[in-house]
Amino acid sequence: MNLKISSSILSCDFLNLSNELDKLENAGLDYIHFDVMDGHFVPNISFGPCIFDSVKSYSSIPIETHLMISHPIDYINAFGGSDTIIFHIESDDNPMEVIEKIKNSNMKVGISLNPNTKYEKIIPYLTYVDYVLVMSVQPGFGGQKFLVDQVDKIKNIYNYLKKNNLKVIIGVDGGINDKNAKMCIDAGVSTLVVGSFLMKSENISRSCNVLRENARVTLNSF
Ligand code: DX5
Ligand code: ZN
Repeated sequence: MNLKISSSILSCDFLNLSNELDKLENAGLDYIHFDVMDGHFVPNISFGPCIFDSVKSYSSIPIETHLMISHPIDYINAFGGSDTIIFHIESDDNPMEVIEKIKNSNMKVGISLNPNTKYEKIIPYLTYVDYVLVMSVQPGFGGQKFLVDQVDKIKNIYNYLKKNNLKVIIGVDGGINDKNAKMCIDAGVSTLVVGSFLMKSENISRSCNVLRENARVTLNSF
């Protein structure tokens, strides 16, 4: 199993977006993590389809779109061409409908859950999704502190998937850095979503390598 690093561009320098995207490409990032916020599901507004189209036309890195919005089903088409669309279990009364719409639009499906949501809530959907994204901060803002109690949730999800022989990738999103990456990987994560630790670092490639080095020993033993 290979560690994937997905870079959240929420905390990048938007006046130099193309330059920032070049840096991610040069550092060999696996994904761009595109955080969409609507000021309703979360108390912040980020960016939407216009910026998505610009990023997509400029960069060849696959994009995972993280919808932190109400009524996600209405916005699947707007983010068509993503590698993966991630929606929140808390954001829709009919998650199966959202899953089907994403699949029918030829994208992979990710399901995310807030820190206060119990992992049991996503279990009915695990057969149908490609990716589970565990939030390790309250969604809405970059640069927050990692919530260490989410590591047990990751372990529970990992154990459930293993027991049921389900090939679903586990990602973690929020406050990830060189100090906590390893404990997430040890718990079963194979995709790290990393925002400020990368975007605010002086050398993105070097910071990426630090995260990958953290993971090397653990993932070899999986
Ligand atoms: C939080 C977002 C995250 C976040 C990651 O609502 O979903 O993707 O911006 O950024 P850091 O790593 O700074 O927490
Ligand atoms: Zn995110």
